[in-house]
Amino acid sequence: MERVTDHDERLPASPGPRAPLAWAHRIGARIPLVNAPMGGVAGGRLAAAVTAAGGLGMIGMGSAGSVAALERELPQVRGVDGPFGIGLVDWVVAAEPELLEVAIAARPALISVSFGTDLGWATRVTDAGIVAATQVYSAQDARRAQDAGVGVLVARGVEGGGHGAVNSTLPPLLDAVLNVASVPVLAAGGIGTPSSLAAVLRAGATGAWLGTCLAACEESSLSEAGRRALLAARAEDTVLTRAYDVGTELPWPARFPARVLRTEFTDRWTGREDELAADQSARAALAAAIAAGDPAVAPIDAGEGVGLVTAVEPAARVLDRLWSGATAHLADGPADR
Ligand SMILES: Cc1cc2nc3c(=O)[nH]c(=O)nc-3n(C[C@H](O)[C@H](O)[C@H](O)COP(=O)(O)O)c2cc1C
Repeated sequence: MERVTDHDERLPASPGPRAPLAWAHRIGARIPLVNAPMGGVAGGRLAAAVTAAGGLGMIGMGSAGSVAALERELPQVRGVDGPFGIGLVDWVVAAEPELLEVAIAARPALISVSFGTDLGWATRVTDAGIVAATQVYSAQDARRAQDAGVGVLVARGVEGGGHGAVNSTLPPLLDAVLNVASVPVLAAGGIGTPSSLAAVLRAGATGAWLGTCLAACEESSLSEAGRRALLAARAEDTVLTRAYDVGTELPWPARFPARVLRTEFTDRWTGREDELAADQSARAALAAAIAAGDPAVAPIDAGEGVGLVTAVEPAARVLDRLWSGATAHLADGPADR
C-alpha cells in the first residue's frame, strides 16, 4: 500500500501535546490525518488504506452499526502497520451497549462517540487506555466534552457532510474551540484541498478529520451509484435536512440534521417533516427506493467540499496530495511575503 511522506520540518514550530506530528506519532501514525468514521462508507477497507498511508484509519459504525457489522470490518485493519480507530453513534450504542464493549476490546488507538449528550462513555474508553474523541459544535460543547474526559475534540463546521449541529462554519468554530481546549483539536468540515488543510493547521488545529474528500475513494464502501452521484455533484448540490431521518424513522436527535446531496426527496420533504412523519405511503416509497439504491431518492451524505471530488482515487493519493500540498503552503508562508 502507498505511504505519504511526512515533511516534518515544514510544519509551524508549535511543540507540545497539540503539535500535529507529535500527536500523530503519539497515537502511532505518521501524519495527523484521520478519516471520519462514515457509516456505510468507511469500512475496514478504507480504514486500512488510510492507516497504511500513514494516517489514522477509522471504521465508521453509523446508524446501521452493530456488533456483527463491526466484527465483519475489524479483520481488515488487523495486521496493517499503524493505528486504527472506531467511530460510533451515541443512540446506536444506547440501543446495543455491547457495541462499545466490542469496540474497546478491539484495542483501537481511538474511539469516537458522536451525536449524544451523555458523555459517560469517555471515561470507560480512557480507562481502557484508548483515546476518546467526539465532535463538538461550540466552545461550550468543547468544555463539556473535555471535562468528561474526552481527549481529542473534533471541531465540526456546518459545511461538513453527514449529521451535525447547525451552529457555525469551521473557521470561527475552530478558533472558539481552540480558545478553550487543552487537548488536541482536529478540524472537520469542508477540508479537501491543500490550502484548506494548511489553513486549519495554521490556525492551530492538531490535524484534520476528513469525510467527503475520502468518501468516493477506491477503498470506500459506497455503492457505485453513490460514487457516481458524488463525482457529479457541485458544491451547491448539498442540503441540510431532517427529511431522511424522519422518513426512515431513525431516532436521530433533531439537533443534528444531515448534510446530504440534494434529491427529489429532499426537495419535496425538507421543511415538511411533520407531514412526512404522518405519511405512511411516502415513507414506504422511501424505504423501497433505498432498498433499490435509487440515487434520485436515496440519501447520500456529502459536505460542501463535494464539488472538489472529481475522481475515484486511492485514499493514499488523496492524503498525499493534501499533506504534501499543505506542508508546502505552510513552508511558503503568505503569498505576499
Ligand atoms: C458519507 C458520510 C457519512 C458519515 N457518517 C458518520 C458517522 O457514521 N458517524 C460520525 O460520527 N460522523 C459521520 N459523518 C460526519 C463526519 O464525521 C464529519 O463530521 C464530516 O464528514 C466532516 O466534513 P466533510 O465531510 O466536509 O469532510 C459522515 C460524513 C459523511 C460524508
